[in-house]
Amino acid sequence: MSSGDDPQSQALAKPTFSDIQVSALVESVFGLKVSTIQPLPSYDDQNFHVCISRSRDSTDGPTEYVLKINNTESSKNPDLIEVQNHIIMFLNAAGFPTASVCHTKGDSTASLISIDSGSEIKSYLVRLLTYLPGRPIAESPISPQLLYEIGRLAAQLDKTLEKFHHPKLSCLHRENFIWNLKNVPLLEKYLYALGQNRNQEIVEQVIQLFKEEVMTKLSLFRECINHGDLNDHNILVESSKAASGDAVYQVSGILDFDDMSYGYYVFEVAITITYMMIERSSRPPAHARSTPSTDREPQPCRGTPTPRIPRG
Ligand SMILES: Nc1ncnc2c1ncn2[C@@H]1O[C@H](COP(=O)(O)OP(=O)(O)OP(=O)(O)O)[C@@H](O)[C@H]1O
Ligand SMILES: [Mg+2]
Repeated sequence: MSSGDDPQSQALAKPTFSDIQVSALVESVFGLKVSTIQPLPSYDDQNFHVCISRSRDSTDGPTEYVLKINNTESSKNPDLIEVQNHIIMFLNAAGFPTASVCHTKGDSTASLISIDSGSEIKSYLVRLLTYLPGRPIAESPISPQLLYEIGRLAAQLDKTLEKFHHPKLSCLHRENFIWNLKNVPLLEKYLYALGQNRNQEIVEQVIQLFKEEVMTKLSLFRECINHGDLNDHNILVESSKAASGDAVYQVSGILDFDDMSYGYYVFEVAITITYMMIERSSRPPAHARSTPSTDREPQPCRGTPTPRIPRG
């Protein structure tokens, strides 16, 4: 997520809403009556699985949602959240298994709410997304067929976003955004965290290699919008029965668009491969087959997989 890089400021910015506050918020902002609330994992923000009870005059529509409450830092950038929401809706309309974004009573895709904490007033952007079926890949059996599908989806997602337009799209040029691979050299200032040991030397070498072999060739890569965080908790899968009777797993949800930014096709490949390698050692995703490298484009294998760490 994009909030301050300093862990201390992140902790301070993280929302701490109670179930009662969440219930009241869903009703006042989205006009829905909550029946149950469960906290969901979160990194920088606060996420809740919210079930609603139907009113007598509404018999259709989803009953399960995810309420996302952005931290105070990222809540200061409503344009970025708005673009992310429109991308989620655009991909959903294009047939991708992304959530639907619920509109507020005022017909917006997010609402800024302010809480008086006594000493100061803190503002948080809140959004309601539909709850998607399935389980995170982290908890599911993985197969070459599933890895292939994930690679293909990653490629198709980036390709589809070439057709996405929005007046505020330029906010995805996120300069100094630590999670964009273009900014790998920014990691140098955190090397101390590894301590004086072999790991630090290895990471130093990788960053140097990246500067020499990747940074110098960036103009040869094909630019695109990257999801940037296709990790094993941001992809949901569900199983169905094949004709043979065997279970076949398919992607049922693509989550967490908070790290989107302008990057390159090859960055998405590198990030997805890295996460899937961490998840299980198997063959790499099929991204390369859906958007094969051009002759001019350097091969991604050397230098590009980076010292990203697994997160939410
Ligand atoms: N629409 C959804 N449908 C089903 N489960 C979801 C949905 N959104 C989030 N989740 C669950 O909640 C978890 C955390 O959500 P998400 O990935 O959006 O947040 P995060 O980036 O990991 O944390 P943060 O929002 O703090 O940055 C997911 O890994 C998933 O298990
Ligand atoms: Mg996540």
